[in-house]
Amino acid sequence: MQEANPDSSFEIVAREDFSDVTYLLEVRHPLMAKAARPGQFVIVMSHEHGERIPLTIADFDRARGTITLVIQAVGKTTREMQRNCTVGTHLYGIVGPMGEPSHIGNAKKVVCVGGGLGVAPVFPQARAHKESGAYVIGIVGFRSRDLIFWEDKFRANCDEFIICTDDGSAGIKGLVTEGIRQVLDRHGDIDELVAIGPPIMMKGCAAATRPRRIRTVVSLNPVMVDGTGMCGGCRVKVGDKVMFACVDGPDFDGHQVDFDDLMFRLQRFKPEEKLALERWQQGCRIEGRDAGRDS
Ligand SMILES: Cc1cc2nc3c(=O)[nH]c(=O)nc-3n(C[C@H](O)[C@H](O)[C@H](O)COP(=O)(O)OP(=O)(O)OC[C@H]3O[C@@H](n4cnc5c(N)ncnc54)[C@H](O)[C@@H]3O)c2cc1C
Ligand code: FES
Repeated sequence: MQEANPDSSFEIVAREDFSDVTYLLEVRHPLMAKAARPGQFVIVMSHEHGERIPLTIADFDRARGTITLVIQAVGKTTREMQRNCTVGTHLYGIVGPMGEPSHIGNAKKVVCVGGGLGVAPVFPQARAHKESGAYVIGIVGFRSRDLIFWEDKFRANCDEFIICTDDGSAGIKGLVTEGIRQVLDRHGDIDELVAIGPPIMMKGCAAATRPRRIRTVVSLNPVMVDGTGMCGGCRVKVGDKVMFACVDGPDFDGHQVDFDDLMFRLQRFKPEEKLALERWQQGCRIEGRDAGRDS
């Protein structure tokens, strides 16, 4: 496992902004790029006093020695990174690759479903299934056309590709579950469906495949603290077992996951998260005011 290394740090070699809140960072880390496998994640500290946050390895390029992170600015740390992580800057620390890699190679026909930000982490799984010889159907869902990203990457790695938008501005109008319904009507021989996105979306995908007993893999995103199976922060209920997503997952059998418990637990720290964001925004305002005074 690669640890934080404050001396060499990890250079951001490319950045792309997909929307006002979604951005991609390509980070130089040859050892991580060599070790990474689809389904795994890293824990990142953007600066010395920063929070440690888990982020999926959305892509890796062994030849370039880089890993790619796709991040949604939802709170203090992800907004701070959105502001500060520009090309040529460095992340303070990266630990990983963490989690169990996805199981690839047993399925002959696979549906890979990504919703919103889940589109990025489902991509390496779609590519790996394709490389293993499977027939791959990609389904991605966005709120609207302007939020779509990586269409070309999916088209290059999928035998069929479906876009769904909430407002109908591109592809099928509706949720990814509508795309799944259409695919299941056309294909009676799906071996596996992989779904990554908000818990409510993954719950809907699991409900869509349950009547046909199609193996359904979901990638869970509970709040993680240490990422080593010690703190219990990321515990999830799967069937009659309690499991730790950081070491037992993040992939789990979607038909067994208790999504309601996951969604409830994700709400637990909302007041603290709100306060941290407000304090950071207030600090930014004071910085801006002082900078204005100096000039
Ligand atoms: C295995 C895994 C992979 C992830 N991959 C990605 C990814 O590729 N891109 C991405 O944008 N986000 C990803 N996330 C979620 C990301 O970690 C959180 O959005 C981030 O920690 C939010 O921090 P914040 O300070 O910006 O926001 P906060 O205001 O602190 O939190 C906003 C919301 O983010 C979630 N969150 C907060 N802290 C954590 C934490 N320590 N661990 C997990 N979730 C947290 C909670 O749902 C919270 O309500 C992943 C989470 C997990 C568990
Ligand atoms: S993050 Fe602590 S046990 Fe998983």
